[in-house]
Amino acid sequence: MTLIFRTIEEVRAWRHSLPANQTVGFVPTMGALHAGHISLMELAKARSGVALASIFVNPLQFGPGEDLARYPRPLEQDLSLLQAAGVDALFLPAVDELYPAGASTFVIEESVSGPLCGALRPGHFRGVTTVVLKLFNIVQPHIAVFGQKDAQQCAVIERMVRDLAVPVEIIRGPIIREADGLALSSRNVYLKPEERPAARLLFASLTAAKQAFEAGERNAARLTEIAEAMLQGQPGISLQYWDVRDARTLQPVAAAMPGETLFAVAAMVGTTRLIDNMTV
Ligand code: PAF
Repeated sequence: MTLIFRTIEEVRAWRHSLPANQTVGFVPTMGALHAGHISLMELAKARSGVALASIFVNPLQFGPGEDLARYPRPLEQDLSLLQAAGVDALFLPAVDELYPAGASTFVIEESVSGPLCGALRPGHFRGVTTVVLKLFNIVQPHIAVFGQKDAQQCAVIERMVRDLAVPVEIIRGPIIREADGLALSSRNVYLKPEERPAARLLFASLTAAKQAFEAGERNAARLTEIAEAMLQGQPGISLQYWDVRDARTLQPVAAAMPGETLFAVAAMVGTTRLIDNMTV
């Protein structure tokens, strides 16, 4: 039975009722759960005796004109998935539970969050770090699991945890993909059937660059060129960035280094913003 808590007080009471030696795993989400989220829950459960998830569509991380209002909220379906995954408890707060009237304290990471999605979505990572630190303070997990699909988010949270000495271990769960390579995302439900071929090109572009890397190409500009050639001029897709970055700092690199480099892409497919990445 997945317990459901709607208030901070309820989570705290449950947390304090656990034995002191009990490891607690946490998976924060915005709901609209899919197999990618469930794999994170399974990781949390495997690494700790007890797993708690949260579902909170965080208004602070959406910019004006983004999809806050239409963000999918299939709560009944989410609850069944959590139940089936053996998640012990769910924190399901309302907006005013996490952001009391007049809330004026925010967490800002100033380096890793700057480029890529940070440059295109001003204020987005400030919203993420603020809510994630607040959730960590409420849940006090030993480990927290985030999806590698949001590689920059993982790097920003790891930096925040290091810089602010937050006592939690961050674990990255692998990207889960559809059979055609499309990375699972709650936003995939927005895609029309005729947009799928364009959506698939993000993975194709990453794969092309990875193949070139594996064949010995290290030059970041050349790798970017190879990937972008797969996307340019293709109908229905508008590229926002395709970039070669240091996987931890997100700074640009001139040459891709084995084990340290992230290929990252963002594009609009119709009205849907998609991101994807690959570490090489
Ligand atoms: O990745 C997400 O779903 C969100 O950014 C997170 C980490 C739950 C914070 O709102």
